Amino acid sequence: IEYMLMPKTLQNKKILVSAGPTQESIDPVRFITNHSSGKMGYALARHAFLLGAQVTLISGPTSLAKPYGVEVIDVVSAKEMHDEIMQRVHDYDYIIMAATVGDYSCQTIAQEKIKKSDDTLTLQLQKNQDILYKIGQQRSSHQVICGFAMETQDLIQNAKQKLKKKNCDMIVANHLKTKGAGFQGDTNVVSILTPDDIQHYELMSKNELSVLILNQMKQWEDEKC
Ligand code: CTP
Ligand code: CA
Repeated sequence: IEYMLMPKTLQNKKILVSAGPTQESIDPVRFITNHSSGKMGYALARHAFLLGAQVTLISGPTSLAKPYGVEVIDVVSAKEMHDEIMQRVHDYDYIIMAATVGDYSCQTIAQEKIKKSDDTLTLQLQKNQDILYKIGQQRSSHQVICGFAMETQDLIQNAKQKLKKKNCDMIVANHLKTKGAGFQGDTNVVSILTPDDIQHYELMSKNELSVLILNQMKQWEDEKC
């Protein structure tokens, strides 16, 4: 019923969404990750389908059910997410990087469980590739690209830099310290930046926000051409 009620404004669009955290192995029993629940990306994928799009969701490890009608590709590490996205990204009209991709991974993954010994333990980490940056470098002008920005300070300034540096059309910026915003909950508080505009929004559900983001991407596309 929900499917029939939604206007099919994204019919004929192919949309790629990434969601969730990534996990970087330390040894056979441990990993490094972050607090992302995947809820924002899953809500985006679900609503993109409800609005008539053909949707692929590249998902890090989450506890969420697969959204109906969406092709889901499960990944674990940032490298796997990078590889799955980069091999197909040119096929899509809209790309939304809602995943909280780990910035660093272990330089070497221990073959055996690391036994405790000294009072301190140092792990050597290496920077992961920035997927959104690479998408922005290789993009074609008709694609619409949306990234997120997670900040605890200087939200707008940092988000503006990310919009420019990563060559995106849109950045959804959330301030992790605002009540109701960020990782685990069902709500978010965001500002949406495009190259010529910034809109600030009140607290809303991740469902509402996903429809807002998708509508804005469509509007941006319609304005561009
Ligand atoms: N992102 C990505 N690949 C990475 C890191 C981030 O594609 N290796 C994407 C995220 O999915 C998000 C955007 O880049 O859409 C911004 O992520 P964020 O963590 O806020 O910014 P970073 O560029 O990683 O910078 P920093 O964490 O230092 O603020
Ligand atoms: Ca980061």
